[in-house]
Amino acid sequence: MEKTATRIDWIGSSCRLLRATAMEFAETRPFEGLSIGTGIHLEPKTVALLMTLRAGGANLICTGNLNSTQPSTVEYLRSQGIKVFATQTTDPVAHHDSLEAVVGERPDLLLDNGGDLFAIAAKRPYSSLRGGTEETTSGRTRLLPMREQLNMPILVINDSPIKQFAENRHAVGQSLFESYMRFTNRSTNGKRVTVFGYGACGKGTAACFRNAFSTVSVVDLDSVTTLEAHLDGFVTPLREDAIRSADVLVTVTGFPNIITAADLPLIKDGAILMNGGHFPLEIDVAAFRAHPDVVRIDRYEADYIETLHLKDGRSLHILGEGHMANLAGPRPLGNSVESMDLGFALQARCLERVAKGGVGPEACVVPVPRDIDQMVASAHLALAR
Ligand SMILES: NC(=O)c1ccc[n+]([C@@H]2O[C@H](COP(=O)([O-])OP(=O)(O)OC[C@H]3O[C@@H](n4cnc5c(N)ncnc54)[C@H](O)[C@@H]3O)[C@@H](O)[C@H]2O)c1
Repeated sequence: MEKTATRIDWIGSSCRLLRATAMEFAETRPFEGLSIGTGIHLEPKTVALLMTLRAGGANLICTGNLNSTQPSTVEYLRSQGIKVFATQTTDPVAHHDSLEAVVGERPDLLLDNGGDLFAIAAKRPYSSLRGGTEETTSGRTRLLPMREQLNMPILVINDSPIKQFAENRHAVGQSLFESYMRFTNRSTNGKRVTVFGYGACGKGTAACFRNAFSTVSVVDLDSVTTLEAHLDGFVTPLREDAIRSADVLVTVTGFPNIITAADLPLIKDGAILMNGGHFPLEIDVAAFRAHPDVVRIDRYEADYIETLHLKDGRSLHILGEGHMANLAGPRPLGNSVESMDLGFALQARCLERVAKGGVGPEACVVPVPRDIDQMVASAHLALAR
């Protein structure tokens, strides 16, 4: 028998940890009689998490994040009887309304991404809210000053070492490398690649290009981190030399203006510039475009590449207008399913802990408890053996 399956089916069948957790939750029902309000990207990987929570008895009330809501995901969730307020919008006001609508339903638990839902709950508290989870570092930073008002358990997923190495190091490295090939269809072997930033994401990115037979240089502001890159076997030239020699320049620092139009005289003819950092400000694309030495810009629209031609005959290529390349360009898929499966398994276990009253208000905006990290790590290893 043949069946036409969807991307949601593929992702669901690839999330092995979540599938195992859902089977367990169907027996133990940790969320029986409880509602969970969620404000996280509505795309196929999140569906796997939401269906796991529902298997545990949760009544779900969902919205997404700005700009990332996928209509087919919303349609699917609604077809499963889940209440979804989100629309695909870039309008912060419309987005805020949907966040308000979720909190307005007074869910017992919140699954937050960026601190949006908890910030509303801090302003308008209600007694049945037990606590929940926050996915990101930026959410943690936002919620820390609200601890007194919140006074409930909020476990921060990004602070788990598993998230740091599984997603930031391995998955971002792989997906940025994949993005370079997906955008350009060009080879990596024999290419000189310079990676700006040797944090978790930069480490993975440098390693992936090296594994693909590129010669990789690393530039980091911090001399201790640069020493680490040196001892990891990467070339660590001075910044100017690293730019001059590079066929591919990748920024992944989290800071703006890493490569600017002032670097134009240094950039090699034909160089490719791409960004993996969260904000599209690491490469100063607007200043490059406006530079008086730029005589023509070719936009390869279907491939999200723009080529800037310079007076002196050189040209350079910018991928995805400097947005996070693994979420931009043709058919962007983001980080690997396995890395999200791990992160979302942490989510499911943390929500279970809060639902069962296993942590109290002393755990307001704290990292994932160590025993949950160990449980999720052991479960992943058991599946891998
Ligand atoms: N693309 C994705 O899917 C994805 C996923 C996770 C994180 N991120 C983003 O990637 C960025 C980096 O994250 P991280 O976890 O590696 O951060 P990190 O803080 O661990 O590392 C950043 C590194 O950049 C270095 N740096 C800062 N300014 C620099 C400069 N001017 N020149 C060279 N190096 C400089 C710092 O010294 C540090 O070593 C952040 O913006 C993060 O939000 C992207």
